[in-house]
Amino acid sequence: MNINELKEQMKNEAGQIKNEIDLKNFSAKYKGNNGLISKLFQELKKIENKDEKKQKGKEINELKQYFEELLAEKEKFLIEKLREEELKNIDVSLPGYDIKKGKIHPITQVMEEIKSIFLRMGFSIAEGPDIEKDYYNFTALNFPHDHPARDMHDTFKINDEYLLRTHTSPIQVRVMEKQKPPLKIIAPGRVFRRDAIDASHSPVFHQVEGFMVDKNIRFSDLKGVLDLFTKEFFGRELKTRFRPSFFPFTEPSAEVDVQCVNCKGQGCSACKQTGWLEILGAGMIHPNVFRAVKYDPEKWTGFAFGMGVERIAMLKYGINDLRLFYENDLRFLKQF
Ligand code: DAH
Repeated sequence: MNINELKEQMKNEAGQIKNEIDLKNFSAKYKGNNGLISKLFQELKKIENKDEKKQKGKEINELKQYFEELLAEKEKFLIEKLREEELKNIDVSLPGYDIKKGKIHPITQVMEEIKSIFLRMGFSIAEGPDIEKDYYNFTALNFPHDHPARDMHDTFKINDEYLLRTHTSPIQVRVMEKQKPPLKIIAPGRVFRRDAIDASHSPVFHQVEGFMVDKNIRFSDLKGVLDLFTKEFFGRELKTRFRPSFFPFTEPSAEVDVQCVNCKGQGCSACKQTGWLEILGAGMIHPNVFRAVKYDPEKWTGFAFGMGVERIAMLKYGINDLRLFYENDLRFLKQF
């Protein structure tokens, strides 16, 4: 067949293409190793006259080019046609659907906020297991065996060796066993206590532990870090105060209060007229804890603190019942 006739044929066939199958058939007929264009090139090899060969080659190449253009044009045409058909079925005047947006749970939000404040102060994050050894939860933290201090934590025991951690403090020991000072760590996590559920107790809740170990870490460093934290978290205008307390793993120990978020220290029902809210426990790491992780207590000093996430979330948002966090009532969750 002569090239011009072929060109004419291509054009006619392209004009008939109505769908993807037509397009595929059209492409297969001319393109590829078995296509007509390939065959033309094969025949070209048989021509002996140089000039004729050159001329013929040029024509076939032009034909090939023409075919490619036709194909591209038809492809574009089909895509546009498809789109038009799609749009025909869409009523752009219909009102949109109400897209239901998910939310981050308030406890997670508060955890993230606490983490971000300490990360900005240069702390790193560590984690530990929920199922913990009695050794890490108590013994290495200077709770003597059969000491009543263990009663402060109503423990879910698994067996003689394992329990559900009652606080995040065991992470201190795990980190110090593996790393050398200087350390500046926060450790968020879930903790467990054998408490009956009521407005301020839950068998599962969350804590964030923090600690710092180096040479010459002083109580004033603890005060500075925690004061900055409470200002960032609760508000610049609120003061903090430290009251003496007791924890087996710190000496001296303190409980830290922030001025009542609700009445700004004036005294109200939220703070039982004291003007202060207790937010966390803290202290200087006890030399016996350092000994348990083979740190020389003459060389290193450090502070530690631990806070209950639900508790400070309740204080910050004026929530009076812990159970609201776990019931997942959307009317409650939507407010955060
Ligand atoms: N682990 C303590 C608790 O759950 C809280 C705590 C108090 C942690 C003092 C500390 C600390 O690191 O120094 O009751």
